[in-house]
Amino acid sequence: MPDHSNDITQSPSLDRDCTTLSRHVLQQLQSFDTAAQDISAIMNRIALAGKLVARRLSRAGLMEGVLGFTGEENVQGESVKRMDLYANDVFISVFKQSGLVCRLASEEMEKPYYIPENCPIGRYTLLYDPIDGSSNVDINLNVGSIFSIRQQEGMDLDGDAADLLQNGHKQIAAGYILYGPSTMLVYSIGTGVHSFILDPSLGEFILAEENITMPNHGSIYSVNEGNFWQWEDSIRDYIRYMHRHEGYTARYSGALVGDLHRILMQGGVFLYPGTKKKPEGKLRLLYETAPLAWLIEQAGGKASTGTMPLLDFVPTYLHQRTPTILGSVENVELVESFIQEAERETVGV
Ligand code: AHG
Ligand code: MN
Ligand code: MN
Repeated sequence: MPDHSNDITQSPSLDRDCTTLSRHVLQQLQSFDTAAQDISAIMNRIALAGKLVARRLSRAGLMEGVLGFTGEENVQGESVKRMDLYANDVFISVFKQSGLVCRLASEEMEKPYYIPENCPIGRYTLLYDPIDGSSNVDINLNVGSIFSIRQQEGMDLDGDAADLLQNGHKQIAAGYILYGPSTMLVYSIGTGVHSFILDPSLGEFILAEENITMPNHGSIYSVNEGNFWQWEDSIRDYIRYMHRHEGYTARYSGALVGDLHRILMQGGVFLYPGTKKKPEGKLRLLYETAPLAWLIEQAGGKASTGTMPLLDFVPTYLHQRTPTILGSVENVELVESFIQEAERETVGV
C-alpha cells in the first residue's frame, strides 16, 4: 500500500480559511500562555458579538421594533436607537460566563457594567461603542462597533472606574467592526493592524489583510463642513486651503468607523475639531478616538487632538470628548500647522 502521508501539503487556501481571529491572535503573541489565551478568547467573543449585530442589521428592515428610536436619551444627551441598545446588550451577553471581562464601559451606559461571576477572575475591561454611526442605521448605510481592551487595575471596589482614566497607551487591544457590504473586523494587539472578513458560509472571520500600513500622504479629507460656522479660524483656514489647492477630495459618511476605515486603507485625514457648541469636539476618547488612534499609529499614521498626541491625552471622566485628527502623517501635520500658526499669532511671535 503506497504511503501518501508525506504527500499532504497544506493548500494555501485551506490554511487561509483556517486563519481565524483567535488563531491569528495567538500567532501574533507567539505564545500560548494564559494571558495570550485570554486575549485570543476575548477577541473571539468580540467576533461573536460582531456576528450577532451583523445578523440583526441584515434583517432589521424586515423586522418589527428593530429600527428607529427608543424615545430615550443616553448619557451623551443623544437620542438612542433601538440598535444601539441591542448591540450594547450583545456585547454584555457574549462576555457572561466567560471569566474574561469583569467590567464593560459603553457609550450607552453612564456607569460601567460589572459581570459579577467574572470579576474575581477576569481582570479585563471592555470599552466599546456598540453602534457607531447610528444616524446611518435606519437608512441601511454602513455603521460600526468600536472596541478597546484594558487591564482592570485594582479591585475597583467603589466602581467609579477611576483606573480607566489613563492615556491610550494603556490599551491592550483595540479595533472596530465595519458592517458594510461585507462585515469586516480590524484589530491590533500592538503588533500591527490586521483585517478579517466574515465568511457567512463558515460563520468565521477569516484573515483578509495583515500589517496594514498607511501611505504617508493621501488626497482625502473627511470632516463635516456643515460645522464650518462654529470652527476656530485655524480650522477654517485649513479647510480654505483644501478648497484652493488641487489634489484633495472630500469624503464624509457621518459614521466614524466607515470614514476612518477609508483613511486607514487609502490615506488622508479624518477630523472632528472642537466647535462652539462642543469645544472638546463630539467624539468620545475612551471608546471611540483612543482605540482608533492606537490603530492608526500602529499602521504608521498619526493621531492628534490638534495640540498633543491623542494617545497621550488623560481623560478626567469616563465619557470625555476630545478634538480629533486621525490619518496619514503629512495630512495630520498639515492640519496641526494651521493650529500652530494661529497659536503663534495669538502670542504675537
Ligand atoms: P455614534 O453613532 O456612536 O453616536 O457616533 C456618531 C459619531 C461618529 O460616528 C461620526 O463621525 C460623528 O458622530 C458624526 O457627527 P456629525 O453628524 O456631527 O458629523
Ligand atoms: Mn460613535
Ligand atoms: Mn454609538
